[in-house]
Amino acid sequence: MSKADPFLEKKRRGEKLVVVTAYDAPTARIEAEAGVDIILVGDSVGVNVLGYAHERDVTLADMAHHIAAVRRGAPQIYVIGDLPYATYDTPEMALASARVLRDAGADCVKFEGAQPDVVAALTAAGFDVCGHLGLESQHQEIKRRQGKTAEAAARLFDDALAGDAAGQKFLVLELLPSELAGRISRAVKAATIGIGAGLETDGQVLVVNDLAGVTTREFKHNRRYGDIGAALRGAVAAYARDVRAGAFPGPEHAFQMAADERAALEN
Ligand code: KIV
Ligand code: NA
Repeated sequence: MSKADPFLEKKRRGEKLVVVTAYDAPTARIEAEAGVDIILVGDSVGVNVLGYAHERDVTLADMAHHIAAVRRGAPQIYVIGDLPYATYDTPEMALASARVLRDAGADCVKFEGAQPDVVAALTAAGFDVCGHLGLESQHQEIKRRQGKTAEAAARLFDDALAGDAAGQKFLVLELLPSELAGRISRAVKAATIGIGAGLETDGQVLVVNDLAGVTTREFKHNRRYGDIGAALRGAVAAYARDVRAGAFPGPEHAFQMAADERAALEN
């Protein structure tokens, strides 16, 4: 972890980190133009973009493909990439998987759950690491990690500190009670990035499809800032009406042959 790290500087100064997901080049470019601090290429790409039923269906090749697209769209932005399900079972596996994401353009790799040995191996190899505690989409059977009881909260707190001791630079806290997310954020060196975890984390992350209204699902943790789904549906429906009515293309969208060429063709 470099001393001049801009994100940890922001944490120190109490400036919130703005993190949002992206999965493709144009969205990444727009988000960079909008001034976000960090783009997360999450395994939420599976459900939100690839039409998969579950995050577990996402492969390392899928992640590399989408990270590379985001990198091309936003060459300067700091990119965190998710290690997908079952690609970081051991430190050796995690290292091999992280290299694939780094080669695709990721600045930092994120994985779900408490595996300080994996954090340590990755940081020793020069990777920036982002932990992820609380709701783990890849491991939804781990209900205790949601931290609603004092015992579960204490375990999460310990997990956060262990990841910190191993050198994590960021820590996503997903669907944790706000007071627990605040306690963890104050205790760790890592910059915490909350989703459904209240106001006391060092930053916030949302899935772009949810915040922009591409998805129509309602989530308690989300605020919808746009209606991209309705705008896209309206645009395509208007195009379909014009095509069927012979109103598209107009003369301005087409071109004619030069008069002499047309005459030559007709002879
Ligand atoms: O995959 C993802 O988008 C995530 C966020 C919900 C933190 O992991
Ligand atoms: Na994820």
